[in-house]
Formats: sequence, structure tokens, C-alpha cells
Amino acid sequence: MKERLIITVDGPAGVGKSSVSKALSKRSSCVYLDTGALYRAVALGVAESGISPDNREAVSKFCENIDITLRLANGEMKILAGGDDITGRLRTEKISILASTVSAIPAVRAALLPIQRKAALSGGVVAEGRDMGTVVFPDADVKFFIKADIHERAKRRYLQLKRRGVAADFEEIKSGIVVRDRQDMKRNVSPLRPAEDAYILDTTNMKMTEVVDKMIGVIREKTGAGI
Ligand code: DC
Repeated sequence: MKERLIITVDGPAGVGKSSVSKALSKRSSCVYLDTGALYRAVALGVAESGISPDNREAVSKFCENIDITLRLANGEMKILAGGDDITGRLRTEKISILASTVSAIPAVRAALLPIQRKAALSGGVVAEGRDMGTVVFPDADVKFFIKADIHERAKRRYLQLKRRGVAADFEEIKSGIVVRDRQDMKRNVSPLRPAEDAYILDTTNMKMTEVVDKMIGVIREKTGAGI
């Protein structure tokens, strides 16, 4: 059995990747790597610098001096920008759309690639994102692509925000997801798509616990890992 597993979890917005990836990382004693947070950190930096996300040249220049680091502790991932913990400021609808927009710029993806790969050097990793299985970790031990229909994904995101006490509008969330899906799938660099060797899981009618159990079964079968 391999000591250090690399497990990738890709899929569209609002499908529940974070919940299942966190659960998997705990079960497998792997580090949880939330790569969307890195794109969100760039988006926040771009917004705070007053740069238009559509100005590709200015965003690319911004990335030349980027100072984003990850701190991984107790299964949680913190994002630091210039040494400051910005983790709590990344999960807004505005930053979601902005992250999707800047993520289509090649210089942004190039700047974040080494940070993502470095996170997997110290041990096993469950890496969540859009291009984990296709680009960042093409040799991953197990690759998942999870999907669910748009209504179900909007509902999951809506309920998640409600639970956190954040005001949420269902239709707004749904249209935000539609816009992001389109941008993330249509971009030229590293578009959202399943790797050829990915295990595709439609979770529309599944509970999160069922999804995690199914994934653990696949990991055991493919790697022999005793998780
Ligand atoms: O997973 P998330 O919602 O936090 O991601 C925010 C945006 O970042 C997403 O719409 C597209 C981009 N992203 C990406 O292009 N590649 C990744 N590996 C992760 C996220």
C-alpha cells in the first residue's frame, strides 16, 4: 500500500466538494487542499488593488509579485496574503465570481501551480478544485469528478449559507453558479472537465455521507489503503 496518497476531487460550483474533501482528508489522514481558496485570494488582492478583473495585463502583472502562502494545521487550511490571514474574507458571492474570472488568466494559473504542488510534498493530500486531476496532479492515485444538477447545487449552497447565518437569495445563488460554470468550462486554460481516468459520481440524489462512503470504497479498491 502507498504511504502518501494523492486524491483529487474536481467538479462544478456548489456540488459539495469541500464537505466531502474535508471528510475524506480526515478519514485518510491526508492534508486537505482547497485550491479554490487560492484563486479567491488572488481575486481579493485584485479587488483591493483597484484592478479591473477584465484587465488581463494588469492582473498578470499583479501576479508577478504575489505573496500567498498556505498554513495547514489540524486538517484546516489557512490562506495568508503578505503574511496576513485572509481565510475568513474569501467566501462571498462577489469574490466567487471574481475568482472565476481571474482564474481564466494563464499568469494567474501559472503563479498558483507551484503553491498547489508544494502542498502535496510533505504527505498525502486530498486536493479539491477544477483541474486537480487534469493539470495539477495528473498522476494522482485516485481522481474523482463529482457533479449534481443545477437546482440541487444551488439548494446546497443556499442551505450552507443559511446555516452560517449569512443572508442568501436562492435565485441569485443559482444564477451565480450558472455564470461560474460557463466561465470555468469555457476558458482556454485548464477548463473544468473530468480527467479521462476520473471516477465520475452524480450526487444529485445522494446524501453527503453516502457520497463519502462511496468515495472511500473506490479509494480502498484502487489503492488497498486501509482507510
Ligand atoms: O471552488 P471555489 O468555488 O472556491 O472556486 C472559486 C473559483 O476559482 C472557481 O469558480 C474557478 C476557480 N478555480 C479554478 O479555476 N481552479 C481550481 N483548481 C479551483 C478554483
